Amino acid sequence: MLSACDVDPLPIAVIVIAADGQITTINERARELFGERTVGRLYAAVLRQPDVVERIERALAHERMAPVRYIAVGAGRDVVYDAHIVPIEDESGGVMVSFVDATHKEEAGQMRSDFVANVSHELRTPLTALSGFIETLRGPARDDPEARDRFLDIMEQEAGRMNRLVSDLLSLSRVEDMERMRPTAPQDLRDVLHCAQSSLQRQARARGVTVDLVSENDGGIAVSGDRDQLIQVFTNLIENAIKYGKKAGIVTIRVTRGQAVPGMRAPVICVAVEDQGDGIAPHHIGRLTERFYRVDNHRSREMGGTGLGLAIVKHIVKRHRGRLRIQSEKGKGSCFTVCLPEHS
Ligand SMILES: Nc1ncnc2c1ncn2[C@@H]1O[C@H](COP(=O)(O)OP(=O)(O)O)[C@@H](O)[C@H]1O
Ligand SMILES: [Mg+2]
Repeated sequence: MLSACDVDPLPIAVIVIAADGQITTINERARELFGERTVGRLYAAVLRQPDVVERIERALAHERMAPVRYIAVGAGRDVVYDAHIVPIEDESGGVMVSFVDATHKEEAGQMRSDFVANVSHELRTPLTALSGFIETLRGPARDDPEARDRFLDIMEQEAGRMNRLVSDLLSLSRVEDMERMRPTAPQDLRDVLHCAQSSLQRQARARGVTVDLVSENDGGIAVSGDRDQLIQVFTNLIENAIKYGKKAGIVTIRVTRGQAVPGMRAPVICVAVEDQGDGIAPHHIGRLTERFYRVDNHRSREMGGTGLGLAIVKHIVKRHRGRLRIQSEKGKGSCFTVCLPEHS
């Protein structure tokens, strides 16, 4: 028979139940979960959740049982456990039940289903618009060339939105897949920034925004990285600064070297993208890198945003073992800083 000494050091909660249903052994972790005075009591009175009780009953009757969910009601929040029930291979006829914390699994499952719901919702909006316009073009607008052109323009925009959404989703999944593979090739950071800047020239001009690149270092600056992904990071940050910053304002890209960054070993290069927009309220800042999180849904959609840009930025920066810092003050503008390890 298992004794408390055998199971006490285990890092998970374990109880042993005899054939007559009495709890005979309980380890330290299980005591935290079920209380001190548990040995000698009937398991049904301690565990109390019908599914768990039923499975244990059947296991005591020598049936093999799959794990069952046990929910411990906590003060702050519930903790979900997978209860594994295994027969003890001796003449006692008892079973051992171990409780493995399944909160992470549960949360990951919840995140996955939230994500699918979000993607479906984001795709449905332009799809509904497209279906509506097709119907209108077939019906009332059939003989109205002016309306037809207008509707076709909107349809093009909606199709573009779907396209961007699908590309961003693909980028996100690709970046997540590669996250553990750290890129090591040297990349010229100024070249990366020039590339990002010039691809946004038209957008900047349309909003009357000037994009200035300020670097304290005239020579080349090399970081270890993946060129396309770095361009993607800075394109998104500069594009956000143009879109959400001040109309006809200035966006400054500031490159600095040698700053001490918590959690990073020197030498480090930091690129700050600053705008003169309205800024972001503090309670939003921590959530900006969540997928589909937007401060102003309507504005983001109007600007053609998918809400995935900063989530992609976060993953790419993480893959590069870098840091992303967001600073903003209402009414004073925002500053998104990416720090990357310098190539040595
Ligand atoms: N420079 C900025 N100034 C103010 N708000 C910003 C800035 N950059 C990002 N945001 C906010 O963060 C949200 C998420 O950004 P992002 O993930 O790039 O999505 P998108 O640009 O597609 O809307 C934006 O919708 C916007 O509300
Ligand atoms: Mg964006």
